[in-house]
Amino acid sequence: MRPYQEYQQMVEDALHGQLASLGEIPALLLDAMDYSLKAGGKRLRPVLLLAACDMAGGSLEEALPYACALEMIHTYSLVHDDLPAMDNDDLRRGKPTNHKVFGEGMAILAGDGLLSAAMELMLRQAVRGGEMRFVRAAEAIARRCGVTGMVAGQTVDVTSEGKTPDEDTVRYIHAHKTADLITAPIEAGLLLAGACAEDVQSGVEYGYGLGMAFQMVDDILDHEGDPALMGKTLGKDAAAGKLTWVALRGLEGAHEDARKAVAGAVDALHGMKNQNWDINFLETLAQSTINRVQ
Ligand code: IPE
Ligand code: IPE
Ligand code: MG
Ligand code: MG
Ligand code: MG
Repeated sequence: MRPYQEYQQMVEDALHGQLASLGEIPALLLDAMDYSLKAGGKRLRPVLLLAACDMAGGSLEEALPYACALEMIHTYSLVHDDLPAMDNDDLRRGKPTNHKVFGEGMAILAGDGLLSAAMELMLRQAVRGGEMRFVRAAEAIARRCGVTGMVAGQTVDVTSEGKTPDEDTVRYIHAHKTADLITAPIEAGLLLAGACAEDVQSGVEYGYGLGMAFQMVDDILDHEGDPALMGKTLGKDAAAGKLTWVALRGLEGAHEDARKAVAGAVDALHGMKNQNWDINFLETLAQSTINRVQ
């Protein structure tokens, strides 16, 4: 296993090259995609994919196209999430949002482009690799970002604004809009490494707990966070009538539930059948989610 920054740097170094390797992209489209990709971000999802694959003895080189694809999908979800028709945000990753710079039409297309490029990169690697594990990893990511995953969660998020929060609905929103894209890298990373079905299942449970905690803390940080560190405008969820964990449970309750979700993630890690794996990286990362400031 390597430190977080090393996995992050591998992604940073590969992202643009992966896009460019697809062929000639219209300059404006490439600019708009690169603008949001290069704006930074924690690279949490691709780091999770590389770390899960590494932990299970897989090849980082094989995993890298999937890691970049997942960061492209996440970035597309942010570009669209910020559009006036959705959350209407002006700031993302410390910079003006994509539509503020390129206009709404290009921001929509940049998102479409990032999603399509991600699918192409994963399937190209699957064709190249020629083994079913490559296909299964691509399927897991496609499923979790799609109409039963992230897009489903975003649908309920934007159509529930102003309603009275109930636990089932908020859990559905968080599980899909966020936890699915945090489970995807664990599932895909373990599948690429050839892990057994039981350990993939434990990985999925870890991803769910981590992802739920991550979004609960995002909701908390909308109230308590430092805008300079977060790189986005805070304090908008309540005004928009968003169904957040804080709206459901209050700040104290959200803190408590985030700690419980992390504990569930850590339990799932300890339940892995393969006792030789170094689970320390994923355990520490889950625990640090509770106190994250960005
Ligand atoms: C923001 O994700 C969207 C949520 C699901 C809360 P991140 O907090 O991972 O954003 P970046 O990638 O670091 O910008
Ligand atoms: C974003 O949730 C989830 C996705 C983009 C899929 P939020 O709307 O809470 O994320 P932020 O707060 O804008 O980063
Ligand atoms: Mg949103
Ligand atoms: Mg938003
Ligand atoms: Mg938020």
